[in-house]
Amino acid sequence: MLESIADRALNSEVSLSGAKLVDNEVEVWWKNKASPGRFSPFWLRDHCHAKQSLNPETLQRQVDTFAIPVDIAPAELQISDGGRALRIVWQHDGSISLLPAAFLWRIAQDGGRDTAPRRRLWDRAVMAQALPTMTHADIMSGSEGLLRWLSMVEEYGFALASGMPPTIEATEELVTRIGYVRETIFGGMWDFTANLAFKDTAYTSAAIGPHTDGTYSIDSPGFQLFHCLKFDGSGGESTLVDGFKVAEQIRRTDPMAFEILSTVRVPAHYLGDGVHLRAEHPVIGLDHNGDFVQIAYNNYDRAPFRLPTPRMNAFYRALKLFNQLINDPANEITMRLAPGTALLFDNWRTLHGRRAYQGFRRLCGAYLNKEDFDSKLRVLRAGAACAAA
Ligand SMILES: [Fe+2]
Repeated sequence: MLESIADRALNSEVSLSGAKLVDNEVEVWWKNKASPGRFSPFWLRDHCHAKQSLNPETLQRQVDTFAIPVDIAPAELQISDGGRALRIVWQHDGSISLLPAAFLWRIAQDGGRDTAPRRRLWDRAVMAQALPTMTHADIMSGSEGLLRWLSMVEEYGFALASGMPPTIEATEELVTRIGYVRETIFGGMWDFTANLAFKDTAYTSAAIGPHTDGTYSIDSPGFQLFHCLKFDGSGGESTLVDGFKVAEQIRRTDPMAFEILSTVRVPAHYLGDGVHLRAEHPVIGLDHNGDFVQIAYNNYDRAPFRLPTPRMNAFYRALKLFNQLINDPANEITMRLAPGTALLFDNWRTLHGRRAYQGFRRLCGAYLNKEDFDSKLRVLRAGAACAAA
């Protein structure tokens, strides 16, 4: 019988004490006396973990879902392997399904959905004490250090790595500990000074207001890492704002503005350098539960679009409120990125900007896809749970 790594971690803790058919559902009881779980017979056959049903190498489904009779029913329900599995003999063909207790427990708890990210919203006051930071040595020392650092990024939307060697090679090594470097029109790992190599304000020394990157990308970069390799001048502090905190502030205080910012899909574009990228995102992206998924805001890159005048006016009013709040010093933290300190932030949550500067600055960094960051965090968490079990 196969198990995912997440279920393996639960294995020693969860076991079944009984099962019976109730109103055409299979009801299972747990030894820990938690409320019984109920599953449809069709679903149980579809999720059979016997190796002819689930590929042992890839954990891909091998059951022919569409050959399962719609009125499938169990002939026998047995608890096997000392409570670690449910064994079902099916009435229609006598075949046997096996389902691990830990798997059934996990599905009974979360319905097979990802649990909500662990987040703590912040403003300047919350961050007054200390910024989430770990040393490069601790992050690179093993899975446990990396897990702690990525968990900080999940919780706060950013974290710093101190004590870095001030080189592009060390920066790339840190990025690739998390996932692969995302290729974009700017390349993979980038390394730039104010040279106007691209048609983008990021390549000048002017101040840049708080924004998220890649509003013109259908799948905006999930994470970005900056590392200042050399700075000889004045100004140039980086600014960060918790976009989810600002969104929550608007939800609480101005429901009309919140409705507009979370429903109007704002087009954005990148024109030049031989490309024409275009995508649409609401400023405040929500999931079906109303939880925050993505902030997408870059007033520089907003593409022309028009709504009926009353709605357009309401949109401008809402956008002005959002812009006011992200520029409110109470919501903003500032830091000077110095050689040896890298900043990793969630580009779907944390807005970033930069004060104007004079002098020479060399900054390198990379984008990471959201799915690769999330994958690494899941793998590290499951590994840590297995080690603890
Ligand atoms: Fe940016």
